[in-house]
Amino acid sequence: MPNATRGSWRLSEVERILVLNGPNLNLLGERDPDHYGSKTLDKINDDMAHFAARLSVELVFLQSNHEGDIIDMIHAERKSCQGVIINPGALTHYSYAIRDALETVDIPTVEVHLSDIYAREEWRRVSVISPVAWKSIVGKRPAGYTQALRELVEYLRSATKQ
Ligand code: DQA
Repeated sequence: MPNATRGSWRLSEVERILVLNGPNLNLLGERDPDHYGSKTLDKINDDMAHFAARLSVELVFLQSNHEGDIIDMIHAERKSCQGVIINPGALTHYSYAIRDALETVDIPTVEVHLSDIYAREEWRRVSVISPVAWKSIVGKRPAGYTQALRELVEYLRSATKQ
């Protein structure tokens, strides 16, 4: 892989992306398939890992039901990951702490939601994460995660050419 040094990222640095899933996403497959589809999180992560291998990108995965674990992981990976893909689950709607963590580390972030949060109950229509995300992908079910990976890698790689 060429070692482009112009721009904010060297191409060789686009290697590691943090994939975070928040509360209750460990129950995908059995949880409300009408909104979230029927794939398990393991299967979704597997599909992403295959796609990442084709893109020569390494993924680091965490699912946690605890806000602090997600924040700790963002902090721990802040120097080694060049991108973040996050589905914060219900924390989307009120976690200013995750929002602050993402804003602080300032790593390009894609927010993913399996369902279209903007077409559901009123309390789900607010994302405190989206203002600090580079992009939000909603309502694409599991395909939203691979779309996020593709677009994030394209974005990071195009940034190396500027
Ligand atoms: C979700 C939407 C949230 O409102 C919900 O609490 C989730 C999943 C989604 O992927 O559509 O846990 O983030």
